[in-house]
Amino acid sequence: MGNVGAKEVPTLLTPEGLRIDGRRLDELRALKVTAGPLHEADGSAFVEWGANKVMAAVYGPREVHPRHLQENNKAIVQCRYNMAAFSVDERKRPGLDRRSQEISKVIAEAFESVIFAEEYPRTSIDVYIEVLQANAGTRCAGIVAASVALADAGIPMVDLLPAVAVGKIAGRIVLDLKKEEDNFGEADLPMALVPQSGRLVLLQMEGHLNRAELSEALDLGVKGCRQIYDVMKQALRDRYAVRPEGHTGGAA
Ligand code: CDP
Repeated sequence: MGNVGAKEVPTLLTPEGLRIDGRRLDELRALKVTAGPLHEADGSAFVEWGANKVMAAVYGPREVHPRHLQENNKAIVQCRYNMAAFSVDERKRPGLDRRSQEISKVIAEAFESVIFAEEYPRTSIDVYIEVLQANAGTRCAGIVAASVALADAGIPMVDLLPAVAVGKIAGRIVLDLKKEEDNFGEADLPMALVPQSGRLVLLQMEGHLNRAELSEALDLGVKGCRQIYDVMKQALRDRYAVRPEGHTGGAA
C-alpha cells in the first residue's frame, strides 16, 4: 500500500481456489436482464452483470440510412457499441474510437448470422448498445442485451445469443472475467453461442492458451452461455407474461 506509483498485481486466486470476489472458477457474476425498459424503441433490454450496466435499443426493420447501404434482397444489420464517458474509472474520450468500431463490427456480424434478414429486403435493423458502467465483458453484456432487445422488437432470429468471456488467471481457466482478472490475467476469450446448434458466432482471444486450455475454455464458455440463455429467456417471459387481470407484463 505504501508503494505509491508501483503497479500492484492483485492475488487473483486464494489458496482455496477462490477468486477476488469469492467466486468459484466456473461461476458467473450475478446477472439480471430486463426486457423492454425503453418505450420509444421497437425493442430494448437492460443488463446488469456484476458491475456492468448495459442498455440496448433496437429500431427496425426501417428505412436504410445512408441509402446507398440498402440491399435489395435482405435487411442490413447495423450496430453501434458505445461506452459512456463516465462508464470507466478514467474518463473515456467520448465517441467512436477504434475499439468501439471493432466491437460494433463483430457484434453486427454475430447478429447477421442469426437474423432472418431476407424477410425484410431494403431495410435496416439498427442495434444500439450503450455501456453505462464497465467492468470487463462489456461486449458480451452488449450482445446479451441486444439479443433480448431484438427479440423484444419481434425480429425473427434462429435463436437468442448468449455470450460470455472465459479466461485464464493464475494458471487456471475461469468463467466470466471481472476487470482485475481481465487486466492482470493471462488470457481473455469472449464468445457468443447459438444454443440450439452449439455454433459459435463470435470468438475472440487476447493472451495465450495452449490447445488443452483452449478446449477447456470453450467447454466452460458453452456451459456459461447455457446458464445465461436461461436468464435471457426468463426476462422475455417476464415481459410478455399475461397477468391474471389480462395486462401484459412490461407494457407502459
Ligand atoms: O469490455 P470487454 O471485456 O468486452 O472489452 P475489453 O476491451 O477487453 O475491455 C475490458 C475492460 O477494460 C472494459 O470492460 C472496461 O472495464 C475497461 N476499459 C476501460 O477502462 N477503458 C477503456 N477505454 C476501455 C476498456
